[in-house]
Amino acid sequence: MRRLTAVPAGLVLAAALVALPSGARASAGQAPAGAAKEPVAAGTGGAVASMDADASQAGIDALKHGGNAIDAAVATASTLGVTIPFVAGPGGGGFMVIYLARTHQVVTIDGRETCPGACTPAMFTDPKTGQPLGYDYASDQPLATGVPAMVATWAKAISLYGRGSLGTDLQPAIGVAERGFRVDADFQQLTQSDLPELQAYPASRALLLTPAGNPLPVGYLLRNPDLARTYRLLARHGPSYLYDGPLGRAIVQADDHPVTTAGTTVALPGIMTMSDLRAYQATVLPPTHVRYRGLGIYSMAPPSSSGSTVGEALNILSGYNLAAEPRATALFHYLEASRLAYADRNAYVGDSRYVRVPLRGLLSPAFAATRRCLIHDQALVSPAAPGDPYPPFGSCPGHTPARAQPPEGGHTNNIVAVDKWGNVVAYTNTINFFGGSGETVPGYGFLLNNEMTDFDFAPPSPGAYDPNLPAGGKQPRSSMGPVIALRDGKPVFSVGAAGGSTIITTILQIILNHVDFGMSLPAALAAPRVSQTNSATSLAEPGFYHSALAQQLTSQFGEKFTLATGPILPLDHYPGDATALQVLGHGSDEAIAEPVRLGGGSALVVHPSP
Ligand code: DON
Repeated sequence: MRRLTAVPAGLVLAAALVALPSGARASAGQAPAGAAKEPVAAGTGGAVASMDADASQAGIDALKHGGNAIDAAVATASTLGVTIPFVAGPGGGGFMVIYLARTHQVVTIDGRETCPGACTPAMFTDPKTGQPLGYDYASDQPLATGVPAMVATWAKAISLYGRGSLGTDLQPAIGVAERGFRVDADFQQLTQSDLPELQAYPASRALLLTPAGNPLPVGYLLRNPDLARTYRLLARHGPSYLYDGPLGRAIVQADDHPVTTAGTTVALPGIMTMSDLRAYQATVLPPTHVRYRGLGIYSMAPPSSSGSTVGEALNILSGYNLAAEPRATALFHYLEASRLAYADRNAYVGDSRYVRVPLRGLLSPAFAATRRCLIHDQALVSPAAPGDPYPPFGSCPGHTPARAQPPEGGHTNNIVAVDKWGNVVAYTNTINFFGGSGETVPGYGFLLNNEMTDFDFAPPSPGAYDPNLPAGGKQPRSSMGPVIALRDGKPVFSVGAAGGSTIITTILQIILNHVDFGMSLPAALAAPRVSQTNSATSLAEPGFYHSALAQQLTSQFGEKFTLATGPILPLDHYPGDATALQVLGHGSDEAIAEPVRLGGGSALVVHPSP
């Protein structure tokens, strides 16, 4: 995680005394009161959960105006680009998992950014030393920006599966961008977490900071007329306004020739061209699928690693009766299954258009058996070596440690939506780190992603195979990938999460909490988390780290934990925030958001239950 700096308590008050930003973008005038956030809502007519109340409301508005869950997801995502621009918006990308009620099919849309054509495997190494660049350093550079994929994803989803149009689905976001919304403490802390990068660009300062370059004070009415105009232009002209038009040219110009604040320079400008934008396609992919305790678990195929890694871990865990085990034993099995599945993820998953990803093997119960048999009664040594996911699957191999994986980080969001017809959408999307590259496209009101640092910067050892090295047109491996669970072919729940590489373990843990340990979905989501990603220690939230269970896992099984704490706690009890959806039957659904993490999320339904 990079330079996250605490917002001192006094700053909230002090900031209230500073001047308004230039351009009258913020004002203290008549404002829509920020909608209160409720983490759980049940009712009929459709439901939406996201990080933010205005964004969830946008989805509900889309449903009320005849849209379906796909339209609601786009309305929600585009509004998040206004209200939480640090984790969303047209400058990023993501993955949509969709259950289509009419055909009883699960489909997915790969809306991941691509590396510009000029990308090379060595692009994140220092030419002078031949060593990989620092992760944080590289993530701050425009070179880390990939071809924005969000608008292509929205357009593809709507044209194939929606009832509305890009024009109608962007209306709620346009309204919020024009009317404005009140900056709250969460927004302020997110600003603070990316402050030096935002300060580096006049366009970001003008939009998101005070003239002195500080976070906007709590209570500010923040309007974004530039983004309202951008959305209007996209509504009128369609995605070609970006992928082959003036907005694309502005993105390329901003990335390759960034205008920086006096005294600030950019070491590694972007290498994007209009050809890169013209070549971008969001693609429909078949979902990954495993069976777990009678459920069909559907998620995202590569370049996402979520479907394969959640699937492999669940296959490993299918061999245990977790519900009947003492909880510490069950959690030990969860941690070890995650550790081993992560070893395989790191070794084998990348963009399958560029590398051979043995997806069938990774998702095979027979392969999982070769991994399960490595789990005995003590924590394995990390990094655990990958298995051999190519059939025929042999007997149990010995456990050998492997090389450590470089850091991954980031901040994103997951949206869930369901409509009255029973379509379900789970959509994880991001611009990567809070604030992406920090650069706002001048005149267009949104931040650019820094997703390309999800590539490995160098192979595990010189010349070794690495499925996730950069290349022109390639997509970096992602951890994003929500799940839709079906029973007898009908959706029962959906869950997705933010949190970089902890996304996968968050999803896994919520599934286990709910399916194996019998927690309600809201309780499963709120419970303290612990994340094992084939690292020496598991990252544990305070509620888990200080628990008797954690002590027992250490004393009985040799598990080690690191306290997930950070300078912007309590805003982020990492691992990251999640949303979920439960289909209650008879037209009722329950939308679920975080009660606490990242300031809590917002769950709404069209017609609340009495
Ligand atoms: O694709 C990925 O895995 C990361 N770029 C996602 C970033 C992320 O999850 C941010 N989460 N809080």
